Amino acid sequence: MPRNSDFISEAVSPALVAALRATYALPWCGTHGAPHWLRVRENGLQLAKLTGADPVVVELFAVIHDIKRLNEGHDHGHGPRAAVWAQTAVRALLPLDAHALDKLAYACATHTHGLTEAEVTVQTCWDADRLDLYRVGIMPDPARLCTKAARSPEILRSAVDRSTMPPERR
Ligand SMILES: [Fe+2]
Repeated sequence: MPRNSDFISEAVSPALVAALRATYALPWCGTHGAPHWLRVRENGLQLAKLTGADPVVVELFAVIHDIKRLNEGHDHGHGPRAAVWAQTAVRALLPLDAHALDKLAYACATHTHGLTEAEVTVQTCWDADRLDLYRVGIMPDPARLCTKAARSPEILRSAVDRSTMPPERR
């Protein structure tokens, strides 16, 4: 099970981790819970080195995009709710200027819409999430990924491996 310390970085403060813990309504280690967030973060940080995305936005997207889910299935409002949560409840805990906060909010609000065109930090966030689809048995489809980096066989393979690894080896 991920520990609080696994999340803490320059982007993610202990206070933000406490807010994540207090807010997430679903099982902490469920399909859309903390182990998924850590894999999305790893995917995103690997991609950011190749795409030039803002790594702070990418890390915050990883821990926030599913935070307001109310079920593990089709919860159509969870992205917009996560965006509002970032802009209000935890705004003071996010080391972002207004422009970067807009990117985070947009990436969260629309991450389930299947879009591929956007500014590169937003694209990198969406790809980081889509690259973890194999955890539910869905092979990430290169045609649905936004960036050339995410479509590379090496990145795809490492993400799929991560999705299937037991937690202690992630
Ligand atoms: Fe997700």
